[in-house]
Amino acid sequence: MKAPIGIFDSGYGGLTILKEVVNQLPNYDYLYLGDNARAPYGTRSFETVYQYTWEAVQWFFNQGCELVILACNTASAKALRTIQQINLPHLYPTKRVLGVIRPTAEIIAHYSTTQNIGILATTGTVNSESYLLEIHHFFEKTKVYQEACPMWVPLIENGEYDSPGADYFVQKHIQQLLQQNPQIDTILLACTHYPLLIPKIMEFVPSHIKVVPQGKIIAESLADYLMRHPEIAEKCAQNSQITFCTTDSTVDFNQKGAIFFGKTIKSQHILLGQ
Ligand code: DGL
Repeated sequence: MKAPIGIFDSGYGGLTILKEVVNQLPNYDYLYLGDNARAPYGTRSFETVYQYTWEAVQWFFNQGCELVILACNTASAKALRTIQQINLPHLYPTKRVLGVIRPTAEIIAHYSTTQNIGILATTGTVNSESYLLEIHHFFEKTKVYQEACPMWVPLIENGEYDSPGADYFVQKHIQQLLQQNPQIDTILLACTHYPLLIPKIMEFVPSHIKVVPQGKIIAESLADYLMRHPEIAEKCAQNSQITFCTTDSTVDFNQKGAIFFGKTIKSQHILLGQ
């Protein structure tokens, strides 16, 4: 039985990834889940993010998914390794769970001329140091500077991404990042929510600096993965159907999610952690 590709995020952010994935791979079916009832994940402990993410992954498996993408940097940083190395081999040896950090780290240094890269992310992603480790794994000489932006996800989730309140927090964190090294010429938006802040971010970033969202990078990497793994690709349904699920209000999800996805959404409610 063929099944959709699962796309998971703590809330709405993964929709910015799904949007690019659907552009790149329009024929596949997708099942999106936002754990809005328990978002944000970015300020939660390692154990909590792992537990929430593992519950979500098992839910996808119960829906028949063979491949699940953690379209959330925080979940990728804090839960992916345990799921891939401990849980899957014992419990679901044929299923696959992929994250967003490695595919981004594999490519991000190609954007930089000075080899000084700034990372903007949640506190959880920054503290995990996953980007430092992963980028150095592929690009030994690249220097990586991080800045946690704990207020950005709440601003975005509450529709305040274009408000004067956003000006203050966006400017503050851009300044704090760039102060770490004036040679930074590339800023990675290492949180899937942040693309909504791009117009605001561009107001405070000097024009010679590239601001890189992850959507296209992840979409291209998934296309490449499915080509290299036909045994997984052939288990994925291809009827161009997208199903949206949320653990919180479907009314909110339909309204706010449409802003992230760029199209109308009709979501279903599901429960996790029962
Ligand atoms: N969108 C998630 C990420 O990419 C973070 C949002 C949250 O804090 O829940 O890290």
